[in-house]
Amino acid sequence: MNKIFAKIKKTGIIPVIKLDESNDILPLAEALLNGGINVAEITFRTMAAAEAIKLLKHSNYDILIGAGTVLTTDNVDKAVEAGAEFIVTPGFNPRIVDYCINNGILIAPGTSIPSEIEMALERGLDVVKFFPAEQSGGLPKIKAMGAAYGDIKFIPTGGISLDNLSSYASCERVLACGGTFMVKDSLIKEKKWTTITDLSREAIEIINKSR
Ligand code: 3PG
Repeated sequence: MNKIFAKIKKTGIIPVIKLDESNDILPLAEALLNGGINVAEITFRTMAAAEAIKLLKHSNYDILIGAGTVLTTDNVDKAVEAGAEFIVTPGFNPRIVDYCINNGILIAPGTSIPSEIEMALERGLDVVKFFPAEQSGGLPKIKAMGAAYGDIKFIPTGGISLDNLSSYASCERVLACGGTFMVKDSLIKEKKWTTITDLSREAIEIINKSR
């Protein structure tokens, strides 16, 4: 497995971040790190994404930087140029996946059905996002699909919270869980960094107890 994915597996959780203000990424990263989370997926849902990635890359924070909600190859270019170390997409877009593979860029494409997993396997990928996780069948679906496909690992995202984190984290098919619950829009807007640290710490404790 790629060493960045191996590091993400160790942490077990990927905060899915949406920023209106790129400057918020620095106190946010510090809050996550204080809670034990050393990875951040910054989504291209806002114009602030590339600048936030760049700020984080040039900071002293020891944190893995991913770009999420990547919908175009232009997003890929902007993300990588800014310093993203991995790309996450909501769906399986062959054009984006192939672009990343051909350019040596690490990608976890979104999947929710067997044929998308087969498209990933055919391209030599061993980690995929499972999105939207709860709405697509949750853990039972991961287990059922996983049974057919060797060693592929999933990053379930969508509908994951402190309430169901333990069951996902205890499944060996799950590389890490993605979620917004510790970095909700309102928490960022209100600069509730201590709450973000507390939620992050709670998530890490649950994950460590579950596996
Ligand atoms: C994503 O962008 O991957 C999801 O919207 C995250 O879903 P959540 O808000 O339910 O965690």
